[in-house]
Amino acid sequence: MEFSAVVVAAGSGTRAGPGGAKQWRALAGKPVARWSVEALRAAGARELVVVVAAGDEAAAASALAGLDWRGATGGASRSASVRAGLAALTADEDAMVLIHDAARPLLRTEHIARLLEALKSAPGAILALPLADTLKRNDGAGAIAETPPRAGLWRAQTPQAFRLGALRAAFAAWPADEEPTDEAIVLKRAGQRVALVPGDPTLVKLTYPEDFSMAERLAGAARVTRIGQGFDADAGLHALTDALLGAIGEGDIGDHFPPTDPKWKDAASDQFLAHAAALVASRGGRVVNVDVTLICERPKIKPHRAAMRQRLAELLGLDIAAVSVKATTTEGMGFTGREEGLAAQAIAAVELPA
Ligand code: CTP
Ligand code: MG
Repeated sequence: MEFSAVVVAAGSGTRAGPGGAKQWRALAGKPVARWSVEALRAAGARELVVVVAAGDEAAAASALAGLDWRGATGGASRSASVRAGLAALTADEDAMVLIHDAARPLLRTEHIARLLEALKSAPGAILALPLADTLKRNDGAGAIAETPPRAGLWRAQTPQAFRLGALRAAFAAWPADEEPTDEAIVLKRAGQRVALVPGDPTLVKLTYPEDFSMAERLAGAARVTRIGQGFDADAGLHALTDALLGAIGEGDIGDHFPPTDPKWKDAASDQFLAHAAALVASRGGRVVNVDVTLICERPKIKPHRAAMRQRLAELLGLDIAAVSVKATTTEGMGFTGREEGLAAQAIAAVELPA
């Protein structure tokens, strides 16, 4: 489904401690803001505006390099930044727009799909979670003043989704002397229905320094493992390259290095493997382990095995324990048995962002 998106990334992250504005810091090897922009793109965002504080343009360009987005300049408050993002959208008034905090990196396609579905029956919808903990009000001296009932209470997350025209009209009617803490309150004040859509406890907002390590752990969980296999009638490195390409659905070695192109005729095979490994890394992925089986009567592989494992581990940036090289004969049968050639099989597991 087509939608527009505004990612607000113009805060200064004062509660998140030292290390620069939290949206440009790395989380599990990737800038915080990049997580959300990639997720929105992957879910099919047609138009994507990232609201950035004046002076942060270079940080944004580097964090979001290679992605398709447009910048807008943020304001002094979150809602001012949201308004700046809305003003920068060119979609028509009937378009669906998602407003999302860059500080909430672990956004997934399924969250977005749920919101867009809810927008079919309401002009606004937000991800939210019913409160699970009992609430306490502090008396100001570190003791309980009262226990407010939590029944019916939900905590709001982002994205928050709206029909663009309805949200713009609601902001236009919002009193100038009041600061809305989210967009849902603005639409609701305008008398419109805002649906509560079940959110996700892993869609945490990075607020305090300790939130980063928790999100790192959650980011690890929000990954999938893919496997790929390869076969080659000549070289183990070719089979392994095909296995990596297979795991990320990137075709085969011939697609990337056409044998008809003289450039690749005598190219060193480790170059092919390095290319496949770089493709995995460019998707935020990581090779988990590889296992190569060489099928031949001769040469005897065993004396070379340790060196082969070491070389593959270096090429792939893996611990040697994650690299296996095995060899077998076919007991004199078939083309390998007749020593007309060797064959190689490889399997690789790759972990990718979910
Ligand atoms: N935000 C923004 N413009 C502002 C303030 C906040 O775009 N003037 C964005 C932040 O970048 C963040 C989101 O709004 O993605 C949620 O705000 P919050 O978690 O409060 O982030 P900060 O305001 O940056 O942090 P702090 O309040 O600790 O300073
Ligand atoms: Mg703030």
